[in-house]
Amino acid sequence: MDTEPQFFETNAAPGVVGQPLSRVDGWAKVTGRAKYSAEYNQLPGLVHAVLRTSDVAKGRVTSIDASAAQRQPGVLAIFTHENLPKLAKTPNNPEDQKAFASSPMSFFPMASDQVHYAGQPLAMVVADTLEHAQYAAALLKVNIAAEVPTASYLDPKATSYVPKSVKGTEGVTKRGDAQAAFRNAPVQLTATYHHATNHHNPMEPGATTAHWEAPDRLTVYDTTQGVSETQKTLAAMLGLATEQVRVVTKYLGGGFGCKAWVWPHVVLAPLAAKAVGRPVKLVLTRPQQFTGMGHREEQEQTLRLGATKEGKLLGIVHEKTSTTSPWDDYAETNSRIINMLYALPAFESTYHLAKASVMTSTSTRAPGDMPGSFAIECSMDDLAYQLGLDPIQVRLLNYAEKDPTNGHPWSSKSLKQCYARGAELFGWSQRNPRNGQTRNGKLLVGYGMATASYPVHNSQGNARVRLYADGRAVVQAGATDLGTGTYTIITQVAADALGVPPQNIRFELGDTILPTTQWSGGSTAAGRVSSSVYLAAQEVWQKLIKMAVIDRKSPLYGAKAADVVMEKGRLQLKADPGKGEAFGEVMKRASLSDVEGTAQGRYGSIYKEPGAAADANMNKEEKDAAAGYSMHAFGAHFCEVHVDPELGTVRVARWVSVMSAGRILNPKTARSQVIGGSIFGIGAALMEQTVRDPNLARYTNADLASYHVPVNADIPDMRVDFIDEHDPHVNAMGVKGIGEISIVGVTAAVANAVFHATGRRLRSLPMTPDKVL
Ligand code: MOS
Repeated sequence: MDTEPQFFETNAAPGVVGQPLSRVDGWAKVTGRAKYSAEYNQLPGLVHAVLRTSDVAKGRVTSIDASAAQRQPGVLAIFTHENLPKLAKTPNNPEDQKAFASSPMSFFPMASDQVHYAGQPLAMVVADTLEHAQYAAALLKVNIAAEVPTASYLDPKATSYVPKSVKGTEGVTKRGDAQAAFRNAPVQLTATYHHATNHHNPMEPGATTAHWEAPDRLTVYDTTQGVSETQKTLAAMLGLATEQVRVVTKYLGGGFGCKAWVWPHVVLAPLAAKAVGRPVKLVLTRPQQFTGMGHREEQEQTLRLGATKEGKLLGIVHEKTSTTSPWDDYAETNSRIINMLYALPAFESTYHLAKASVMTSTSTRAPGDMPGSFAIECSMDDLAYQLGLDPIQVRLLNYAEKDPTNGHPWSSKSLKQCYARGAELFGWSQRNPRNGQTRNGKLLVGYGMATASYPVHNSQGNARVRLYADGRAVVQAGATDLGTGTYTIITQVAADALGVPPQNIRFELGDTILPTTQWSGGSTAAGRVSSSVYLAAQEVWQKLIKMAVIDRKSPLYGAKAADVVMEKGRLQLKADPGKGEAFGEVMKRASLSDVEGTAQGRYGSIYKEPGAAADANMNKEEKDAAAGYSMHAFGAHFCEVHVDPELGTVRVARWVSVMSAGRILNPKTARSQVIGGSIFGIGAALMEQTVRDPNLARYTNADLASYHVPVNADIPDMRVDFIDEHDPHVNAMGVKGIGEISIVGVTAAVANAVFHATGRRLRSLPMTPDKVL
């Protein structure tokens, strides 16, 4: 079934890392050869599953009359809570949960008559065609005894509590005495920020195609950011061994965090396929995407910031209140970035949660750091205005030369260069320091900026490299490409590591039969996979060098292996480069068609063999301590807005982002990622919001017509630049990752520009015209 192109066509010569190679998968995508998870239509006997979801947010199913649906042509099976096959391990059992690598919420629907949120799956119809399944699903007569739902933490019925922990972060964290620091500070700022519910909305919705090739052998084509995590979780839920499940994800049409997990539909498809004895395809509709794969929770944060008269931070007290599901204590951890971004002597943070009739929210586009940066970066802007300082100056005044949370040095940090380069590219010096003063015709003009940062999370993975004597190579890692360029950058890394042109490399990913590697998320994939592949290529060289030095016919015969190096596909003496030969010669004399290498690439603070000290049970702080360094990417965004004072519309007129994220493997795909992340941030700043009706707890705009995302007309030309950065501590390739940092700080940069333009400080996202006026 694999139809991905074989050897990719490329446009660059050897020495391609750091070059703007065009996407190697571009041809496959624009010609339709790229196969997404809902496109495995040639599977023998493929049938279709359609979900019927709840219109009611809370209650009990009293009956589902399936008689009319049952009589429809082509209908093969109808599943409800009364006949859905049981899972071997279920999210509904906290003990079972421990076996899952990737379960986003401790609730699995259709296991009882309970309805906990609008959009919850109540029934699944399987039929020979999509249309038959859809029609039959519409004919199901569902009766629900409805109860009054709680819509959000803002609902008067909601009661908030401080959880023991959220996402591994304590419900309350304290560093120093921040309350006292704030109380005694000569300058005190208090502000509350609000963030609407956001949805990921990847172009490609959730889709699962399940094929039982034998009773004990399941292949699943799924829209997942992590094939290995999905494999392990599905196997546990279905009572299979891990190796009995194969998960394939050759292409993704975006993920943004929602495809990091095994959601109910991913399990329902194989259950249905088993029951009807045919491969089953289940694709979420766009409205189902809004209630089927999580969201970013609506939330408010109160930041109390104390500073000296000169503008030096003394302490910050942060509180966040947000909505969670009836079962999980989930909140994205906004406090992380507020704690570490500046030289801050004291910090305290408290999370408050309120349970409502909603599914558990989930990782969304730089979870935590994105909304956290909105609060801290707007408050820093306030501090600058209050003290008559330039916004960059106030940030430099509080520049963290060490990680304030643990006193560790940074593995590398080029934030000062990002500020300087961004200011220069943007023309920041032309900014009138006073707000509400600059006009362009009738439009108010504002300049704003903000800092960005994202941590280098720990992760590890495996890769295999097979180099053929004819100079071609197959490179494999069970990673996924969200559409951001993994195929391309790894092709580049492999080409350079093997000393062959990129068109000779076939890089395979997205399949659990390949070497196991962790999910593409948390901005880890580029660093982990590139390092694994680079190290696997090193193993190939070590094998070849050992062969050459004992081969009487080799010019390297008798040399010490340690004295031989690889240069552009040639084995040669370090001290005498003229003495050596091409690797193909060594292999041909030994009658070897190919040589293989494998390696495990580590990433983050587990990279260096503190490794010996760092083990899987350590938390981030302990691993950082073992490594001795704190690892983060840094950057800065600059924004010009034009505000129409009569209409209240905000238009982003210019944009500059400067990032420092270790080695940039490909400036073209990297630039596209920064542009994409910044556009998401502009969307969250100005238009993105999912509205949950306060009485019915149903989304009122669960479609792309009314959930507004920026289109071309909303976005100006964007300038992106990178600061060269060599980081020897993060991983073998010195790559920090740029998937998520590009959205961090964006909403604040826009809000700060709106404040500069209008003198109105807007702290509620999105900044729609009704709020601007
Ligand atoms: Mo990301 S929100 O870690 O996929």
